[in-house]
Amino acid sequence: MVESVGIREIKTTVRRRGAHTHIRGLGLDEKGRAKLIADGLVGQTEAREAAGIVVKMIKEGKMAGRGILFVGPPGTGKTALAVAVARELGEDTPFVELTGSEIYSSEVKKTEVLMQAIRKAIGVRIREFRIVYEGMVKEIRVKRLKHPYNPYASIPREAIITLATRDDEATLNVGQEVTQQLLELGVRKGDVIWIDAQTGAVHLSGRAKSEESRKYDIDMRRVVEIPKGPVKKEKEIERTFTLYDLDLNMALRKASIISIFGFESEREIDPELRKQVDEMVRKLIEEGKAELVPGVLFIDDAHMLDIEAFSFLSRAMESEFAPIIIMATNRGLTRIRGTDQESPHGMPLDLLDRLLIIPTKPYSEDEIREIIKIKIIEDDIKITDDALDYLVKVGSETSLRHSIQLLEPSRIIASRNGRKEIDIEDVKEATKLFIDVKHSIEHVKKYESFFMK
Ligand SMILES: Nc1ncnc2c1ncn2[C@@H]1O[C@H](COP(=O)(O)OP(=O)(O)OP(=O)(O)O)[C@@H](O)[C@H]1O
Ligand SMILES: [Mg+2]
Repeated sequence: MVESVGIREIKTTVRRRGAHTHIRGLGLDEKGRAKLIADGLVGQTEAREAAGIVVKMIKEGKMAGRGILFVGPPGTGKTALAVAVARELGEDTPFVELTGSEIYSSEVKKTEVLMQAIRKAIGVRIREFRIVYEGMVKEIRVKRLKHPYNPYASIPREAIITLATRDDEATLNVGQEVTQQLLELGVRKGDVIWIDAQTGAVHLSGRAKSEESRKYDIDMRRVVEIPKGPVKKEKEIERTFTLYDLDLNMALRKASIISIFGFESEREIDPELRKQVDEMVRKLIEEGKAELVPGVLFIDDAHMLDIEAFSFLSRAMESEFAPIIIMATNRGLTRIRGTDQESPHGMPLDLLDRLLIIPTKPYSEDEIREIIKIKIIEDDIKITDDALDYLVKVGSETSLRHSIQLLEPSRIIASRNGRKEIDIEDVKEATKLFIDVKHSIEHVKKYESFFMK
């Protein structure tokens, strides 16, 4: 009954993390020790090493149902470290991000938002045998039709494609959907591909190993062997879905066409349906056709969650299919939302009790300088030494984030002043236009009577 898994792949959203694009990983050596500057990270060595141990535990499957909490003052790299953990885990481990306040901003119940996030954070690696056509592309011809309204465009209608293995060759006539995929993937002569005989899903494996492929040194594609045996064959395929993908698949199969519209946005999934998916996954695992890949649910600014959300999470951590929960907060002793009870980090004690806590500390001036330097290179910004010194000073007096945020305005001011390189005057001008939080509070106090109440 592997067929029931279905083929529709649903891409769950990928989020942009503008402020953290420079981070590639945790920057650890083979022994798990933090290099001072590596993978875009600077300093914060103890927290990085701790995070490295967590990554190891996740990879070895020893973290499921447990949690991590990053605590530290604003701008000390908590979110950055969580992003680094995601990079270390690689593509195959689901990593889902949620900001504490996000659960309130939706039309959907907050526990439903959390539930969906949890389901997105659990992967199921499924192996199935499929009938495929596999081989190296020997010939590909796309037939086009005139576009119905645009006289300058044509639409691909079908393609004739010849696939060859070391022992066999076959020419296929494929329809519009397959042709579309071939074009989107940029499939050309010399590529090794397979096409699912039933669904028409196309998979590009890489460039065939041959004299031909060696000519293109800058080819980005992986070089692969030309397959052996017949072109049409049964092939074992391994793919990772999230429980959420499977929920949607199940729902789509059950829903009528009309109710599908708007499905992937704001809608609640029937708990009964989730049970069925769990049942199916459990069965696949028992039959040895699938394995669970517990991913990470990262909840930033976790103090924004309320008591109801926290108890929901505690329960979720205990369930059979549980992701690893990573949270971050910059709050100390504060009220738990939805109660009048104070607690460390605004979290219930029984939840805190299950978390490994990793502290982050404020940066030294030298570290701030190195971090800004990385950002400057990353964003291709030119800046004088004086201006950099000034920015470092601003950073250590206010916050690292504030000084990083001043970079882009300073660049714009510099170019307005006719400079290609940011000068100290440009940074000074930027600090006058954009103030940090301490100053904005003073500002509000000064003009208190004029502000809205
Ligand atoms: N050790 C580091 N190395 C390189 N860049 C860093 C480091 N720490 C922080 N940054 C960068 O500095 C900025 C602020 O850090 P980040 O957003 O991670 O702070 P935070 O601890 O999550 O703060 P908050 O409590 O306000 O959420 C980000 O752009 C981040 O990528
Ligand atoms: Mg943060």
